[in-house]
Amino acid sequence: MSAESLREKWDRFYSSSPSHELEPATVLAEYGHLLPNSGLALDLACGLGGNALFLARRGLRVTAWDISPVAIDRLEALAGRSALTIEADVRDVDLAPFPHEQFDVIVVSRFLIRSLAGAIVDSLKPGGLLFYQTFVREKLSPAGPSNPDYLLAENELLGLFGGLRVMVYREEGRIGDLSLGRRDEAYFVGQKR
Ligand SMILES: C[S@@+](CC[C@H](N)C(=O)[O-])C[C@H]1O[C@@H](n2cnc3c(N)ncnc32)[C@H](O)[C@@H]1O
Repeated sequence: MSAESLREKWDRFYSSSPSHELEPATVLAEYGHLLPNSGLALDLACGLGGNALFLARRGLRVTAWDISPVAIDRLEALAGRSALTIEADVRDVDLAPFPHEQFDVIVVSRFLIRSLAGAIVDSLKPGGLLFYQTFVREKLSPAGPSNPDYLLAENELLGLFGGLRVMVYREEGRIGDLSLGRRDEAYFVGQKR
Protein backbone atom coordinates (compact mmCIF):
# COMPACT_ATOMS: atom_id res chain seq x y z
CA MET A 1 0.00 0.00 0.00
CA SER A 2 1.37 3.46 -0.87
CA ALA A 3 1.97 5.98 1.94
CA GLU A 4 -0.87 8.07 0.53
CA SER A 5 -3.42 5.22 0.61
CA LEU A 6 -2.25 4.25 4.09
CA ARG A 7 -2.79 7.81 5.32
CA GLU A 8 -6.24 7.93 3.71
CA LYS A 9 -7.20 4.58 5.24
CA TRP A 10 -6.24 5.67 8.77
CA ASP A 11 -7.73 9.15 8.32
CA ARG A 12 -11.07 7.50 7.44
CA PHE A 13 -10.77 5.27 10.50
CA TYR A 14 -10.03 8.14 12.89
CA SER A 15 -12.70 10.40 11.38
CA SER A 16 -15.36 8.02 12.64
CA SER A 17 -13.80 6.67 15.84
CA PRO A 18 -14.96 7.75 19.32
CA SER A 19 -13.85 11.16 20.56
CA HIS A 20 -13.13 10.12 24.16
CA GLU A 21 -9.63 9.49 25.44
CA LEU A 22 -8.35 5.92 24.99
CA GLU A 23 -6.78 3.79 27.69
CA PRO A 24 -3.03 3.18 27.43
CA ALA A 25 -1.81 -0.21 26.19
CA THR A 26 -1.92 -2.94 28.84
CA VAL A 27 1.87 -3.31 28.79
CA LEU A 28 2.23 0.35 29.75
CA ALA A 29 -0.58 0.42 32.30
CA GLU A 30 0.61 -2.77 34.03
CA TYR A 31 4.32 -2.02 33.99
CA GLY A 32 4.12 1.76 34.38
CA HIS A 33 6.07 1.40 37.64
CA LEU A 34 9.18 0.77 35.50
CA LEU A 35 8.98 4.26 33.95
CA PRO A 36 11.50 6.95 34.89
CA ASN A 37 10.16 10.08 36.65
CA SER A 38 11.33 12.37 33.87
CA GLY A 39 12.84 12.28 30.38
CA LEU A 40 11.67 12.13 26.79
CA ALA A 41 9.21 9.48 25.60
CA LEU A 42 8.02 8.54 22.11
CA ASP A 43 4.59 7.07 21.33
CA LEU A 44 5.30 5.48 17.93
CA ALA A 45 2.30 5.16 15.57
CA CYS A 46 0.30 6.77 18.36
CA GLY A 47 -3.20 6.87 16.86
CA LEU A 48 -5.33 8.84 19.33
CA GLY A 49 -2.43 8.72 21.79
CA GLY A 50 -3.72 6.77 24.79
CA ASN A 51 -0.07 5.96 25.53
CA ALA A 52 1.14 9.52 24.91
CA LEU A 53 -1.43 11.00 27.30
CA PHE A 54 -0.57 8.42 29.98
CA LEU A 55 3.16 9.21 29.62
CA ALA A 56 2.55 12.97 29.80
CA ARG A 57 0.51 12.52 32.98
CA ARG A 58 3.45 10.58 34.42
CA GLY A 59 5.63 13.66 34.02
CA LEU A 60 7.53 12.68 30.88
CA ARG A 61 8.01 15.00 27.92
CA VAL A 62 6.23 13.27 25.06
CA THR A 63 6.66 13.08 21.32
CA ALA A 64 3.97 11.23 19.34
CA TRP A 65 4.14 10.26 15.67
CA ASP A 66 1.47 8.94 13.36
CA ILE A 67 0.90 8.91 9.62
CA SER A 68 -2.70 10.12 10.04
CA PRO A 69 -3.22 13.90 10.26
CA VAL A 70 -6.73 13.25 11.61
CA ALA A 71 -5.32 11.20 14.51
CA ILE A 72 -2.68 13.84 15.26
CA ASP A 73 -5.26 16.67 15.25
CA ARG A 74 -7.48 14.70 17.57
CA LEU A 75 -4.61 13.86 19.92
CA GLU A 76 -3.67 17.54 20.08
CA ALA A 77 -7.28 18.39 20.98
CA LEU A 78 -7.39 15.68 23.68
CA ALA A 79 -4.07 16.87 25.15
CA GLY A 80 -5.29 20.49 25.14
CA ARG A 81 -8.49 19.52 26.94
CA SER A 82 -6.39 17.97 29.73
CA ALA A 83 -3.81 20.80 29.72
CA LEU A 84 -1.08 18.35 28.74
CA THR A 85 1.76 19.18 26.35
CA ILE A 86 2.51 16.60 23.65
CA GLU A 87 4.70 17.21 20.61
CA ALA A 88 2.46 15.41 18.12
CA ASP A 89 3.66 15.16 14.53
CA VAL A 90 2.37 13.66 11.31
CA ARG A 91 5.14 11.33 10.24
CA ASP A 92 5.51 8.22 8.10
CA VAL A 93 7.82 6.29 10.39
CA ASP A 94 8.71 3.93 7.57
CA LEU A 95 10.28 6.81 5.62
CA ALA A 96 11.43 9.47 8.09
CA PRO A 97 14.73 8.80 9.89
CA PHE A 98 14.75 8.22 13.64
CA PRO A 99 16.97 10.45 15.81
CA HIS A 100 19.99 8.70 17.39
CA GLU A 101 19.81 7.94 21.16
CA GLN A 102 17.09 10.51 21.78
CA PHE A 103 14.42 8.78 23.85
CA ASP A 104 14.30 7.52 27.44
CA VAL A 105 11.14 5.56 26.65
CA ILE A 106 9.58 4.29 23.41
CA VAL A 107 6.11 2.76 23.36
CA VAL A 108 4.74 0.83 20.40
CA SER A 109 1.27 -0.68 20.60
CA ARG A 110 -0.66 -2.48 17.91
CA PHE A 111 1.79 -1.57 15.16
CA LEU A 112 4.41 -3.74 13.49
CA ILE A 113 6.98 -2.88 10.84
CA ARG A 114 9.75 -5.37 11.50
CA SER A 115 12.39 -3.45 9.55
CA LEU A 116 12.12 -0.59 12.10
CA ALA A 117 13.43 -2.68 15.00
CA GLY A 118 17.04 -1.51 14.55
CA ALA A 119 16.03 2.16 14.26
CA ILE A 120 13.85 1.88 17.38
CA VAL A 121 16.74 0.48 19.42
CA ASP A 122 19.16 3.05 17.99
CA SER A 123 16.76 5.83 18.95
CA LEU A 124 16.70 4.77 22.63
CA LYS A 125 19.26 6.32 24.95
CA PRO A 126 21.46 3.79 26.79
CA GLY A 127 19.34 2.72 29.77
CA GLY A 128 16.15 3.62 27.87
CA LEU A 129 13.08 1.39 27.93
CA LEU A 130 11.03 -0.09 25.10
CA PHE A 131 7.41 -1.04 25.82
CA TYR A 132 5.96 -3.12 22.96
CA GLN A 133 2.60 -4.82 22.62
CA THR A 134 0.96 -6.18 19.52
CA PHE A 135 -1.09 -9.02 18.08
CA VAL A 136 0.20 -12.57 17.58
CA ARG A 137 -0.51 -15.09 14.81
CA GLU A 138 -1.95 -17.46 17.43
CA LYS A 139 -4.56 -14.94 18.60
CA LEU A 140 -7.98 -16.34 19.43
CA SER A 141 -10.24 -13.36 18.83
CA PRO A 142 -10.89 -11.54 15.55
CA ALA A 143 -9.36 -8.34 17.04
CA GLY A 144 -6.40 -6.94 15.14
CA PRO A 145 -5.16 -7.58 11.62
CA SER A 146 -5.75 -10.85 9.78
CA ASN A 147 -2.76 -10.51 7.44
CA PRO A 148 0.03 -12.62 9.06
CA ASP A 149 2.61 -10.04 7.88
CA TYR A 150 1.28 -7.78 10.64
CA LEU A 151 1.11 -10.47 13.31
CA LEU A 152 3.93 -11.72 15.50
CA ALA A 153 5.30 -15.24 15.20
CA GLU A 154 6.14 -17.19 18.39
CA ASN A 155 8.61 -15.27 20.58
CA GLU A 156 9.24 -12.87 17.73
CA LEU A 157 9.63 -9.71 19.86
CA LEU A 158 12.41 -11.49 21.78
CA GLY A 159 14.27 -11.98 18.50
CA LEU A 160 13.57 -8.52 17.06
CA PHE A 161 14.81 -6.83 20.25
CA GLY A 162 17.37 -9.48 21.24
CA GLY A 163 19.98 -6.82 22.13
CA LEU A 164 17.85 -5.44 24.97
CA ARG A 165 17.75 -6.66 28.56
CA VAL A 166 14.30 -8.23 28.93
CA MET A 167 12.33 -7.07 31.97
CA VAL A 168 8.93 -8.39 30.86
CA TYR A 169 7.81 -10.91 28.27
CA ARG A 170 4.34 -12.39 28.11
CA GLU A 171 2.95 -14.54 25.32
CA GLU A 172 0.57 -17.32 26.25
CA GLY A 173 0.03 -19.16 22.98
CA ARG A 174 -2.79 -21.68 23.01
CA ILE A 175 -1.83 -23.65 26.10
CA GLY A 176 -4.21 -24.63 28.91
CA ASP A 177 -7.60 -23.06 29.60
CA LEU A 178 -8.21 -20.85 26.59
CA SER A 179 -11.08 -19.07 28.33
CA LEU A 180 -8.51 -17.44 30.64
CA GLY A 181 -5.44 -15.27 30.19
CA ARG A 182 -4.39 -12.80 27.52
CA ARG A 183 -4.11 -14.72 24.30
CA ASP A 184 -4.23 -12.19 21.47
CA GLU A 185 -1.10 -10.15 22.03
CA ALA A 186 2.53 -10.38 23.10
CA TYR A 187 3.87 -7.99 25.76
CA PHE A 188 7.50 -6.90 26.01
CA VAL A 189 9.49 -4.43 28.09
CA GLY A 190 13.23 -4.24 27.47
CA GLN A 191 16.09 -1.94 28.41
CA LYS A 192 18.89 -0.79 26.18
CA ARG A 193 22.21 -1.56 27.88
C1 LIG B 1 -3.88 -0.21 15.15
S1 LIG B 1 -3.43 1.49 15.21
C2 LIG B 1 -2.67 1.60 16.79
C3 LIG B 1 -2.68 2.98 17.33
C4 LIG B 1 -2.14 3.11 18.77
N1 LIG B 1 -0.75 2.77 18.86
C5 LIG B 1 -2.96 2.27 19.71
O1 LIG B 1 -2.46 1.28 20.25
O2 LIG B 1 -4.15 2.62 19.91
C6 LIG B 1 -2.03 1.56 14.09
C7 LIG B 1 -1.54 2.98 13.89
O3 LIG B 1 -0.39 2.99 13.05
C8 LIG B 1 -0.42 4.16 12.26
N2 LIG B 1 0.47 3.93 11.11
C9 LIG B 1 0.37 2.97 10.16
N3 LIG B 1 1.42 3.04 9.32
C10 LIG B 1 2.19 4.08 9.75
C11 LIG B 1 3.39 4.65 9.29
N4 LIG B 1 4.05 4.16 8.22
N5 LIG B 1 3.91 5.70 9.97
C12 LIG B 1 3.28 6.19 11.06
N6 LIG B 1 2.12 5.69 11.54
C13 LIG B 1 1.59 4.64 10.89
C14 LIG B 1 -1.90 4.30 11.90
O4 LIG B 1 -2.25 5.59 11.49
C15 LIG B 1 -2.55 3.90 13.21
O5 LIG B 1 -2.76 5.03 14.04
